[in-house]
Amino acid sequence: QLDGGVTIVVLGASGDLAKKKTYPALFKLFKNGFLPEKTHIVGYARTKMNHDEYIQRISQYIKVNGAKALYKTLQWVPDNQAMKKQLEDFLAITSYQSGQYDQDEGFQNLDAYISKFETDSGFKDSSKHRIFYMALPPSVFVPVAKGLKKNAYSANSINRLVVEKPFGMDSESSNNLARELGALFREEEIYRIDHYLGKEMVKNLMTIRFANVFFGQIWDRRNIDNVQITFKEPFGTEGRGGYFDEFGIIRDVIQNHLLQVLSLIAMERPISTDAEAIRDEKVKVLKCISPIELEDALLGQYVGDGDKPGYLEDDSLKNKESVTPTFAALTMFIDNERWEGVPFILKAGKALDQAKVEIRIQFRNVSGNLFKDTPRNELVLRVQPSEAVYVKMNNKHPGLSFQTIQSELDLTYNRRYSEMSIPDAYEALILDVLRGDHSNFVRDDELDAAWKIFTPLLHKIDNEKVQPKPYKYGSRGPEELDDFIRKYGYDRTGSQ
Ligand code: BG6
Repeated sequence: QLDGGVTIVVLGASGDLAKKKTYPALFKLFKNGFLPEKTHIVGYARTKMNHDEYIQRISQYIKVNGAKALYKTLQWVPDNQAMKKQLEDFLAITSYQSGQYDQDEGFQNLDAYISKFETDSGFKDSSKHRIFYMALPPSVFVPVAKGLKKNAYSANSINRLVVEKPFGMDSESSNNLARELGALFREEEIYRIDHYLGKEMVKNLMTIRFANVFFGQIWDRRNIDNVQITFKEPFGTEGRGGYFDEFGIIRDVIQNHLLQVLSLIAMERPISTDAEAIRDEKVKVLKCISPIELEDALLGQYVGDGDKPGYLEDDSLKNKESVTPTFAALTMFIDNERWEGVPFILKAGKALDQAKVEIRIQFRNVSGNLFKDTPRNELVLRVQPSEAVYVKMNNKHPGLSFQTIQSELDLTYNRRYSEMSIPDAYEALILDVLRGDHSNFVRDDELDAAWKIFTPLLHKIDNEKVQPKPYKYGSRGPEELDDFIRKYGYDRTGSQ
């Protein structure tokens, strides 16, 4: 698609996202030969930096992440010379331009700079492809998109705008943003990143469901009792309190990442693997979800454990009386033939007891009672850490007894696929942008449907200042969690 070559402009090049995610992902793609032969990467940001300062800034992270990746992939202690050479080759195709986000001049300079590279490289008009990756705070999304469209858009070839959440704070602000961006770039030019869609196990959901006859057949309310999607982080918002306090855990993680996972679990089979076919089905299922009620929500906020500070003690937090939730468990129901009455419980929290993202599909009890107290079957997909798919199934206890025990059919990736490296989500997604594949990006109507589910609840929480339940840093969440989950018929298996 991008024959000839491409210029990738990283806007916000001096920021955290660019340093930690975008550049390391670009480096890995480069190293593995996935960037088009003639690729030029231009960093753009307000900070004035000379070339060396810029290189210094981005290569720190690349070195660390690149070395780790190599080590994991090849089981080989990186040879510094080889690494150095790869890095030098990569840095040779990157450069930096500083400029403002709200003035034409900077974007005009950027355009002149890119045009020079295109001319020097002998690009024809039709192959002056430009990818604009906005690693930026939301306050400048629109001014930057305007500046780019007016001054740096390549009229006769392919332009792609990559943008990352937050896409607004609620339905209204998200729709406004969509309208403003939509007036500048066509929907097929926009790539809205939800990086969970780039994670290996999330991408595996469609395969698991639609390439296995046994799962396809039992994927409904007659066989599935409930679905739980859990996101746990063992650290608090330390240093990010300013950003986080405005958004809270529901906007930060649940409305986007976990809901995307839900839609892939719950959607009907798309007519093909084409991006629009997949996104059509995701939108359809999202539209079947009623807005979440406050009684189907449990909110929490972490407090210090004597050693680690509580949320309100975080230095970066301005409002010391904040009621922003750092934990939430939300139960959603899908009003269609397949899922009526099946609770989908989405849980996410900061400062919990472990790092884990997991999808747990719990099946109904076996009919009849031939074996006493048979535990339920479960299908578990561990998204991170250590990707795995396993099925909890009942088995005869080996030996002379006739007792039933629960065992696992276990597909843990680092044992089964130990020789393969799992790409980072950003690496996979940037490659999709280069290929022009929208399957793993969020479409405008999908975003709208997603916000409709959460907006009434979020407004209620904000307006009524709903008090979150306290939970200790490093715990499983608020004490009320077990009761909340039991309400929807879930038996703890001890594994959550
Ligand atoms: C981001 C959130 O979108 O996702 C963060 O803003 C969160 O708060 C992060 O920590 C989690 O991503 P990952 O890939 O580390 O699970």
